[in-house]
Amino acid sequence: MDCGRRDRSIRSAPFRRKEAVGDAIHMTRALARPDLQRRAIRLWLIVVGAVVCLTVLVGGATRLTESGLSIVEWRPVAGVLPPLSAGQWQNEFEKYQAIPQYRTLNAGMTLAQFKTIYWWEWTHRLLGRLIGVVFLLPFLYFLWRGWVGRRLRAGLAAIFALGALQGAVGWWMVASGLADRIEVSQYRLAIHLLLASLIFVATLWMAQRLKPGAGIEAPARIRAGAIGLVVLVLMQIHLGAVLAGLRGGLVYNTWPLIDGELIPGPHALFRLGPAWRNFFENALTVQFDHRLMAYVLWVLALLHVLDATWTLRGGPALAGALAVAAGVTVQGMLGIVTLVQQVPIALALSHQGMAIAVLAIAVVHAERLQARSLGLRLVAARLAPSS
Ligand code: HEM
Repeated sequence: MDCGRRDRSIRSAPFRRKEAVGDAIHMTRALARPDLQRRAIRLWLIVVGAVVCLTVLVGGATRLTESGLSIVEWRPVAGVLPPLSAGQWQNEFEKYQAIPQYRTLNAGMTLAQFKTIYWWEWTHRLLGRLIGVVFLLPFLYFLWRGWVGRRLRAGLAAIFALGALQGAVGWWMVASGLADRIEVSQYRLAIHLLLASLIFVATLWMAQRLKPGAGIEAPARIRAGAIGLVVLVLMQIHLGAVLAGLRGGLVYNTWPLIDGELIPGPHALFRLGPAWRNFFENALTVQFDHRLMAYVLWVLALLHVLDATWTLRGGPALAGALAVAAGVTVQGMLGIVTLVQQVPIALALSHQGMAIAVLAIAVVHAERLQARSLGLRLVAARLAPSS
């Protein structure tokens, strides 16, 4: 009996060791799986954000080269294919020749010149569709694998809905320039850019939320300040788009004076009636507002740095605040050069690209501050549960 027990224990020692190793491997895999899923979802969101950025830049180039009205129809699926024969090109050209922009701005344009503006608009629309595909296919896969928790699913579905809405807003914007005007409505252009920026913010915020590691501890005032800066950058982007849509950077090309004054008089700022129209239709008022908002943003970004310095005495929150302030400073200077040089394409595009960069810096900074204090890192860990 004794002997049998000893035998069994001698035989089972290596077996138990093997079992323990097996258990450890299994546990490590089980732990690693949600982490891999989270990383995959995060990487996907970063890719979506990058394609959104690229689409915004190509959209800016499309506007700056006055190419946005070259495709006068909205065919979400068939429009993927560009004209493939000489006859099809001629057909597209004739449709463009029928709209007021051709007659007023581009009369006498050659087919080769038309092709250039067509390619800009086609590429912008293709990138818009690409965002849909790059978003939807992996999203469906993650859903199918059960990697996406309820909260994350709701957020991602909201981003997808915003993307679909953006396609419709894009066409609504183009349609505004096809009949009575020779360019698109600045109201609609600004909504289009604002919506793109909101999609970018939501995507980046979620990607950031899925990043491992603790957020940054900070008092409520600093956290609110960081969120406030994100909101102000979004408002400034909206103002910039109204200005760009009005071609308001081609006039009042002096700085710091505007129309010969530091602050224009009310008769000039409120020349149009009713008063609210000046905020969208009076180039002087819109440009003045864009400048004013830049000054406010810059001062608040510096105060945010001072607050982080005094309250936290350094650390990652201060580094984030400094990055936002530096971004706003560079962007402001770029805006001034763009203005005094009368909006050359390269500078105007850099100004638009830098606006998205500043937004990204502000979002990452704000999210890092919120995450820790709200304990949302824990929620984030639960966002992508193991299947
Ligand atoms: C943080 C500050 C700023 C931000 C975030 C910002 C952002 C923007 C954005 C998003 C646009 C629209 C671009 C487009 O739709 O193509 C724009 C246009 C413009 N901004 Fe700014 N801007 C800032 C500061 C300034 C300053 C200080 C000036 C000059 C004093 C300025 C001058 C202009 C001009 C002239 C345009 C029209 C450019 C065009 O027609 O393409 N910006 N800005």
